[in-house]
Amino acid sequence: MEKVVVYAPATTANLGPGFDVFGMALEQPHDIVVITRLPVHDGLKIHASGPFSEGIPVDPEKNTAGVVAQHFLQEFSIKSGLLIEIEKRIPPGFGLGSSAASAAAVAYGLNVLFNLGLDRRQLVHLAAKGEIASAGFEHADNVSAAIYGGFVIIRAYDPLDIVPLKAPENLGVCVAIPKLPPQPKKTEKARAVLPKMVPLEKIRSNVGNAAAMAVGFAIGDVELIGRSMSDAIVEPARASLIPGYHIVREEALKAGAYGVAISGAGPSMIAVVDSSPAVISRVTAAMQRGFKSAGVVAETFYTKPGKGVTLLGVQ
Ligand code: HSE
Repeated sequence: MEKVVVYAPATTANLGPGFDVFGMALEQPHDIVVITRLPVHDGLKIHASGPFSEGIPVDPEKNTAGVVAQHFLQEFSIKSGLLIEIEKRIPPGFGLGSSAASAAAVAYGLNVLFNLGLDRRQLVHLAAKGEIASAGFEHADNVSAAIYGGFVIIRAYDPLDIVPLKAPENLGVCVAIPKLPPQPKKTEKARAVLPKMVPLEKIRSNVGNAAAMAVGFAIGDVELIGRSMSDAIVEPARASLIPGYHIVREEALKAGAYGVAISGAGPSMIAVVDSSPAVISRVTAAMQRGFKSAGVVAETFYTKPGKGVTLLGVQ
């Protein structure tokens, strides 16, 4: 095998109370990653194309895909050059798991290309290494969702224990991406504002919501999932980084969303809705209005939970 073509989905992390613990793959947008074997002396090359390729680092040390690939080559003593072509359709830096998609695609693709026989949990472990390049920290919520698809719970990090669940068919997700200037090291900054110590009552609130959300996914109750999208710890600390956060949340809930949260480290926000067209258009309009009232133009779209990394072709 010389070449693999991999589909990798956008993902949303945290879903309110599940900081670094909950992740969900989205049906759109997605990246396409093509990995081709090269002679060993060609080394590791990265090429980015697509609507969001501008600003994607092609230096393998700085690109999540490159970091994961280098790690793979070392870990499995593979002597090969590689060309990684990333068609970037997930906007980077907006909380939709853009870097995780590249990392997950490369881990998954190299596993196939070199016939390594790794399972999904091992792929998450390797793909999470790429998150260091973009977030400065090896969090696995986005990469797990990108690799497993559907909804995932990272029950533990060391050793990694991932609980994948199917998302309900009638779960709808409205996404609002505020058109803010790209922020270098955005996730690192959004993590730097987080409290080091948390009062017990806030932990109680988050544990209650996170537990109920997991049940919501297990029994397919969209209203319960949305009702549990409340975070007393991380979102209050990050709210000031997102102009319009409070009003977007309020307006979307008034318009009929079951729950609203920051998508990952933001600044995008998601609202959970049922899949009725009337609610979807009311909620997306409300989110747009909310951002507008804070002087920010937002792009909104509707999507659903989606599949994980998928092999589109081999050669
Ligand atoms: N769980 C991570 C965070 C997601 O909120 O910082 C970042 O992509």
